Amino acid sequence: MKLLIIGGTGKTGRELIKQGLEAGHTITALVRNPKKLKITHKKLKVKKSDVLLPESLDLPFQDQDAVISALGHKRFFIKTSILSRGTQNCIDAMQKHHVTRFICITSLGINESRFKLGIYYTLFTIPLILYFYFLDKSKQEKLIMKSHLEWTIVRPGQLTNGKKRTTYKHSTKVGHYIFTKMISRASVAHFILQNITSLTYKYKAVGIVN
Ligand SMILES: NC(=O)c1ccc[n+]([C@@H]2O[C@H](COP(=O)([O-])OP(=O)(O)OC[C@H]3O[C@@H](n4cnc5c(N)ncnc54)[C@H](OP(=O)(O)O)[C@@H]3O)[C@@H](O)[C@H]2O)c1
Repeated sequence: MKLLIIGGTGKTGRELIKQGLEAGHTITALVRNPKKLKITHKKLKVKKSDVLLPESLDLPFQDQDAVISALGHKRFFIKTSILSRGTQNCIDAMQKHHVTRFICITSLGINESRFKLGIYYTLFTIPLILYFYFLDKSKQEKLIMKSHLEWTIVRPGQLTNGKKRTTYKHSTKVGHYIFTKMISRASVAHFILQNITSLTYKYKAVGIVN
């Protein structure tokens, strides 16, 4: 398939590119800084774009079968709309170019998975550090849900740089109110690539943890 990966220079984005190429897909990586991407491959195209600049999205979204978003940032302490605005721009670009399949990574703890990232996140990390970030992620999810795309939202537990597993827990119910469940970025990438064409989680927000 022809896959567009948003956030290709990020830790999960790189895993998606690496595993996507290994699986034989043709990958376009949407990145702000191509120099940051150290992967080269004959089936990898790199497009310099910024999701906050709609005019930069035309080329990357052309002629794709599916779009995967691993968009994220570290501006935690200020009010932000990077994820929601950036995602709305991507949704608009997909509609313009008739690309329908969209898989987007958000997080456990958002919307109806509230409190499912464990008590430490619920009482400390989310209210004190990630408050604005999670508010924006919640908006981001709602925009995806009301879009006309064939969407799947993937909500991981706490991300690690551990090895890829091919067995893990995924459902609309995973996560824990007390304990923080983890999952490696490599396993999240594996799950997403397995689910591009699957109907199981179409129009659903699915949690994933070890
Ligand atoms: N950390 C956790 O425990 C955890 C848990 C659950 C979910 N998540 C979520 O999982 C997702 C992936 O996490 P990660 O650690 O792989 O993220 P990451 O390493 O921070 O990567 C984020 C990517 O988004 C890109 N990006 C940011 N702003 C952009 C813009 N305006 N236009 C285009 N690209 C832009 C970054 O590009 P640059 O390289 O140019 O900055 C980077 O490639 C995030 O949404 C994160 O919040 C994280």
